[in-house]
Amino acid sequence: FSPRGFSETGHGPLYLQLQRRIADAIASGRLGPGDSLPPEREMASMTGLSRVTVRRGVQELVASGQLVQRRGSGTFVARKVERLEQALSLLTSFTEDMARRGRSVESRWIGRGLFAPSPEEVMALGLGSADRVARLERVRLSDGLPLAIERASLSQQVLPRPDQVESSLYSVLEARGLRPVRAVQRISATNLGAADAGFLQVAPGAAGLRIERISYLPSGQVIEFTRSLYRGDAYDFAVELKSAP
Ligand code: GLP
Repeated sequence: FSPRGFSETGHGPLYLQLQRRIADAIASGRLGPGDSLPPEREMASMTGLSRVTVRRGVQELVASGQLVQRRGSGTFVARKVERLEQALSLLTSFTEDMARRGRSVESRWIGRGLFAPSPEEVMALGLGSADRVARLERVRLSDGLPLAIERASLSQQVLPRPDQVESSLYSVLEARGLRPVRAVQRISATNLGAADAGFLQVAPGAAGLRIERISYLPSGQVIEFTRSLYRGDAYDFAVELKSAP
């Protein structure tokens, strides 16, 4: 980012000139996916632009999804995701699914603990009025890319110690003989709000898929009620159809 080339006259507002400069660097490959941008202060002194101008130029590229900002670590060129094809008819866990693809799994905890259930959780899990609910809220990543936010609720009887789940919920359930064998899943479209978009490192308002899963034990007892938000640019869902009888 040399100071040359920014001019008050003739080339549009200065923040747009900076934006174009960054977009060109991305398009030409001089800035690659995942590369970090210098801090705002440094960019201002490199270009001779004010910090306000730098901030405005960068913010708009964040809003359009070309750059991502991570609190505390800086601004980066957005990474393009390779779309994953996901079979809709198999009851698998995120961990199993990624392992099958030979991909790594990582989770970032947003929160977990025991709470008084919401009316929705009481209904979905068939809880009594005195029951508490275990909530696990995490960002699921694979190969360093955030793919989904999952908010799982289970009865306290099923999961008395939510902090025991380190990486895979299903492996903890399985170890306790409580692996679900059937699930009903609903998928709908949504636009991601600012906070969730931040967790998924996409622009606020980006397309997302809301996936709700209620899973059952062989006895028919509900075991899990999970609401997830998947990145719309990361998944293709596939299912085999048979002709109607
Ligand atoms: C999938 C499902 C969730 C389930 C999760 C368990 O992503 N959509 O409903 O809770 O897998 O994954 P893991 O065992 O990796 O915690």
